[in-house]
Parts: sequence; structure tokens; C-alpha cells
Amino acid sequence: MSPLRVTRTLPEDATDAALRADVLNGLTATPKTLPPKWFYDARGSELFEEITELPEYYPTRAEREILLARSGEIAAASGARTLVELGSGSSEKTRLLIDALTGLEVYVPVDVSESALTQAGQVLIEERPWLTVHALIADFTGRMELPETPGPRLLAFLGGTIGNLLPAERARFLASIRRLLAPGDTLLLGTDLVKDEEVLVRAYDDAAGVTAEFNKNVLAVVDRELDADFNPDSFDHVALWDADNEWIEMRLRSRVAQTVKVPALDLAVDFAAGEELRTEVSAKFRRAGVTAELAATGLELTNWWTDSQGRFALSLSMAR
Ligand code: AVJ
Repeated sequence: MSPLRVTRTLPEDATDAALRADVLNGLTATPKTLPPKWFYDARGSELFEEITELPEYYPTRAEREILLARSGEIAAASGARTLVELGSGSSEKTRLLIDALTGLEVYVPVDVSESALTQAGQVLIEERPWLTVHALIADFTGRMELPETPGPRLLAFLGGTIGNLLPAERARFLASIRRLLAPGDTLLLGTDLVKDEEVLVRAYDDAAGVTAEFNKNVLAVVDRELDADFNPDSFDHVALWDADNEWIEMRLRSRVAQTVKVPALDLAVDFAAGEELRTEVSAKFRRAGVTAELAATGLELTNWWTDSQGRFALSLSMAR
């Protein structure tokens, strides 16, 4: 059997330190914020999986449609011998790519969750004994180093997760991605597209209330990890379209005036009645903007594919 290697570049306690710093900074800022990466504990990941199956949440299905139709073209254009996937999470979409990449030798899934990585890696190897899987436990928003693997490399960042970054963070992130690539390597990027406001807002405020529960789950994470006393029921889920910035925002609106204690940070946080805490930005894109942002970091867009309804795009760009 071929090897499953796991490299940890995150110290065991890095997650805890990062959560503390983010919660302290976010809850003492004006307006208050919490970064969306803390949604994804076991319950949050389960709720996100449920979201991807909601009738209103189209991005996952749209991206899968593109991959089903285009993985052969992606494989031919990239010629990749190594596939690096950032935020690999559920590996279903990855399989489409892996099986299309005929010259593939190494798969490098990168995630902060060790359990997700080793489980997915194990299954992949059992099914494809020719494939070397080198799982990387790393935070891809920070400094990252890839293992030595054969080129050319295809780096995939799917799901539209790049939309969670604010414009300045996005520029830094793309620059750090570019540094991992050699000339001729490619980036496969999933981006949700600007569209009708109602369609967008419904995707983040579904009728069954799954997204509301997902949003409030971040409070449960802070309660559990930092011993805080957020009562998720005292907040309402809010999803709105910011037309100037072309992004969706999720917020939690305090139903009442209240003080929340975070003992692990020696912190008491006052909320006014109606005060909102921003929990997520999910930017939506246009072709011209994506092309320009990639070009600014030395990546030349070579392909742009959308689903049949023009809702979501996969772009392939090449490092110069
Ligand atoms: C996983 C970041 C792509 O922004 O659409 C889904 C997360 N938030 N519903 C997105 C999410 C609310 C999702 N991403």
C-alpha cells in the first residue's frame, strides 16, 4: 500500500491561542465581529454539510456541475503531477479532480482539522493505491510551506471560501499562494458570482433555519472553548446583501441589552438591544474582478467556467 504521510505545521495549542486572540479582538472592536473560521467545530461542520443540501443554497451544486463537466479540461490544462487542495474538508468534489488528472502522483490535502485529513486520506489511498497522500495540518491563511513533490502542481481552493476574506486579506492570501507556485503551476479557484439579491439572501437565510443554527453555533463554540455564557437564543440570525462591497454579511443581533462574560479572557462584553455582531462576510465576484486580482499577484487567468445558470465560477490561472 502507498503511504499516507501527515505533517503538522501547527502547534497543538495554536488553535486555542488563535481563538482567544480572535474573540478578544473581535468582541472589543466596534462594530463587534467574530471570524467565520470558528463556525466549524464538529456540530458546525455537520450543519454546513446540511446547508450544502438546502434548496436555497446553490453554490455547492453549481460548483459540482462545473467539475463534472470540466474536470477533463482542467486536468489537460494543468497537466498536474501534484494536486494541493486548501481546506479539503469533504473530499467528494476532489475525487472528480483526482480521477481526471491522469498524470497525478501526489495529493496534498491541507486543513486545520487532523481528523478530517486522516479519514479522507485513508479512504482515498485504499481506493487508489497508486496515489501518495501527503496530508498537511496547516492554517492556509498563515505562512505555509508545501512538501517537495513533483511538478507541475495544481493548487485547488474550492467552495467559494476565498469570499470569506476581506479585500486586503484576499490580496495577502493570493500573494502567499503565488509564492507556493513555480512558473507553469496552476490555481483552480471557486468563486460565487454576483446575482439577484433575493437569490443571494435566501441562500444565507433558508426557510428551514439551518443557516440560522449554523450562525448561532459560533456562540456555542465560544461558550465551550472559553467558558463564555452566550445564550444563542438571545440572538437573531441576520443575512444581508451589501451592494457597495458586493458581499453577503451574516450577523447575530442581540434581542435584548445584555452582558456576556468570557472568563477565559477576563472579559465582560456589553450588547445593546438590537446590536449586531458580524460573523461572516461572503464576497461575490465578477469575472473582471477575479481576473484583475489574480493578475495583480502574477497569476494569468487561462480559463473561466460557470454552471449553466451562471451562478458560480471556477477559474484556472497559471503562475508566470
Ligand atoms: C464555506 C465559506 C463557502 O460563504 O457560502 C454557508 C459558508 N455561510 N452559509 C459560504 C456559509 C453560510 C460558505 N463557505
